Amino acid sequence: MRPPNTYHGLHAQYYDEFYSEKPYTDEARVVDAQLVAKVGQRRGELLDVACGTGLHAIEFAALGWTVTGIDISPELIALARARDTVVEFQEHDMAEFALGKRFRAITCLFDSIGYAQTNETIVAVLTRMAKHLTPDGVVAIEFLHAATALLHNHPVKVRRRNTDDGERILRISETSIDARRSVMAIDYEVWKSHPDGTEQETWSERQLRRFFTVEEMRALMTSAGLTSYAFFPAFSIAESITASTWRVLGLASMARRNA
Ligand SMILES: C[S@@+](CC[C@H](N)C(=O)[O-])C[C@H]1O[C@@H](n2cnc3c(N)ncnc32)[C@H](O)[C@@H]1O
Repeated sequence: MRPPNTYHGLHAQYYDEFYSEKPYTDEARVVDAQLVAKVGQRRGELLDVACGTGLHAIEFAALGWTVTGIDISPELIALARARDTVVEFQEHDMAEFALGKRFRAITCLFDSIGYAQTNETIVAVLTRMAKHLTPDGVVAIEFLHAATALLHNHPVKVRRRNTDDGERILRISETSIDARRSVMAIDYEVWKSHPDGTEQETWSERQLRRFFTVEEMRALMTSAGLTSYAFFPAFSIAESITASTWRVLGLASMARRNA
């Protein structure tokens, strides 16, 4: 059975096209600087949770980390494996994984934590991370910021792409907000056609993503045995978080038992 609430079909196949403007290299460098500030230049093992097609994971490997990437979507994991054989990509649910080892750094980027939606499942995900973290390790989580999701969300977005092999791809996303649950529902429709308009293929799916205030994320981390120590606008760490900050990068370490 297909896992729910992730990328499938044409939406998975063209994931990288839809996010082709995303500066994965720069983002990974910003996160790496924060991780190194905590664990030192020798780096070590890094786990990228909900790694998608692996673009951050591959950048972390190039920066000197030994990287494992996990994701629930078999289609995205297949694309990640086809792209790179240095990173170990595995299919896992982030609320349930047990890899049998610990990592000095655990990342979960680009809203992925929000797919867990409820407090209970988010704490389950963060607890899995805490159980896989070395005592001196660091967790970096990028999440969708509540103020901006509520105030500045665009209900309809359209992305058009022309692929290298001449296909035309169109994605329409329609977003509705459930403010009580802090969840946005995004209905995606993806269309693919040849340049002359023939042989159309379509794909639709709904994704649900939670958004968070910084205080909520701090409390959820605490419930999972982690201590948050910094929150920045992703990925401009010199700036302050405002009601226009779309995404926040939160850093946490293991809670000290006797603190
Ligand atoms: C917006 S994408 C981000 C992917 C990647 N981190 C990136 O930056 O491109 C969200 C990712 O979360 C993954 N995901 C959703 N629910 C998941 C779950 N329960 N366990 C693991 N991964 C999950 C999706 O498959 C998807 O790859």
